[in-house]
Amino acid sequence: MLKDKTVVLGVTGSIAAYKAADIASKLAQSGAKVLTVMTGSAREFVTPLTFRSVTGQPVITDMFDSQSQFSVQHVSLADMADAILIAPATAQIMAKLVAGLADDMISLTVLATKAPVVIAPAMDHNMWESPVTQNNVTRLRARGFTIVGPGKGHLASGKEGWGRLEDTEKVLGALRMTMGRKGDLLGRRFVVTAGGTQEPIDPVRVITNRSSGKMGYAIAEAARDRGAEVTLVTAPTALAQPVGINTIPVNTAREMNQAVAKAVLNADVLIMAAAVADYQVASPSLSKIKKEATGRLTLELERTPDILGETKGSFLRVGFAAESEGLVRNAAQKLKSKALDLIVANDITQADSGFGTDTNRVVIIDRAGSVEALPLLTKYEVAERILDRVNALSKV
Ligand SMILES: Cc1cc2nc3c(=O)[nH]c(=O)nc-3n(C[C@H](O)[C@H](O)[C@H](O)COP(=O)(O)O)c2cc1C
Repeated sequence: MLKDKTVVLGVTGSIAAYKAADIASKLAQSGAKVLTVMTGSAREFVTPLTFRSVTGQPVITDMFDSQSQFSVQHVSLADMADAILIAPATAQIMAKLVAGLADDMISLTVLATKAPVVIAPAMDHNMWESPVTQNNVTRLRARGFTIVGPGKGHLASGKEGWGRLEDTEKVLGALRMTMGRKGDLLGRRFVVTAGGTQEPIDPVRVITNRSSGKMGYAIAEAARDRGAEVTLVTAPTALAQPVGINTIPVNTAREMNQAVAKAVLNADVLIMAAAVADYQVASPSLSKIKKEATGRLTLELERTPDILGETKGSFLRVGFAAESEGLVRNAAQKLKSKALDLIVANDITQADSGFGTDTNRVVIIDRAGSVEALPLLTKYEVAERILDRVNALSKV
């Protein structure tokens, strides 16, 4: 969604200014045109050259610079921005924005823009917790600005606390969410499942699978980025909790079943991208199973709940089928037996698709029997295509 969008990146005088280079780089890699604006204090920490190099665009530092194409018309940045992201944002820039000051190129541009604004604060924890800063944050939120972070952890002062610039992925997630607020899924409620469930054998061991959760998270994020209200029911993954998504962590298929049953009560769409175990240990041991010198250990397994089969309601139902043979035939059969509206079939024998990868090659089958084979795409792109189909179906 950032492709060909103009993002004005405001960098202010925080010790975290060096991290803004990573944000600028990731934005540029997403296809956005990134115009960096730096305050004088920011330039004490990092040089404009860094941002010019990673974005391939001029860096704006002075509103009175007669050589700059942006200073000729002092509000031109404000007009051309699809979004403004200030990262890191100092206590000072937030105070200026609240007061409506316009004595530097960032505050001037924010004052003059109609584009969505995202602010990622970074500062010492006493500065962050100060009632003045907290009051400013409340007022910026009330103006419709998105505040992402700060995170908690080690601070440059050597102390621990709230004040760290939020991770790049979360900052960019907040930006995408804010830019998509009026998207085509506005007001629609999605429940998405992700990850591989873990069925206990004993207190320290589990039966699980190789699902990374990436496909389900991509769907949840892509729906959020188009304005949907998303609940993500997730089995354990190594992925960071996404911004702006109601995330419900679960471990087992049974827990997932309960969480989904509750979440779908007021949902419009359920997308089951999780790899749910088909079997669970019938009686998990309450104590750690000891290793014997010889012999075999037999585990008795029983069926886990059939989440899609048990979940009833008037919402659209999208399932996934991970297949190593008979891809379309097996997926079409699952679509029918579980009364789904769509099924996304994954060929897990391909190295570049299925579990763990960042890309996927899928076939989408609908209840009318149409079969759409998608080329190799990123999981986010696959998510977008699934959401296009869901959107079209829900209008029928
Ligand atoms: C070493 C150093 C680190 C600083 N780090 C921060 C910071 O993380 N957050 C913050 O709000 N201010 C920080 N400041 C103070 C700001 O740089 C100062 O308030 C400055 O006027 C901000 O200007 P600007 O908002 O125009 O960039 C720091 C100052 C110094 C000297």
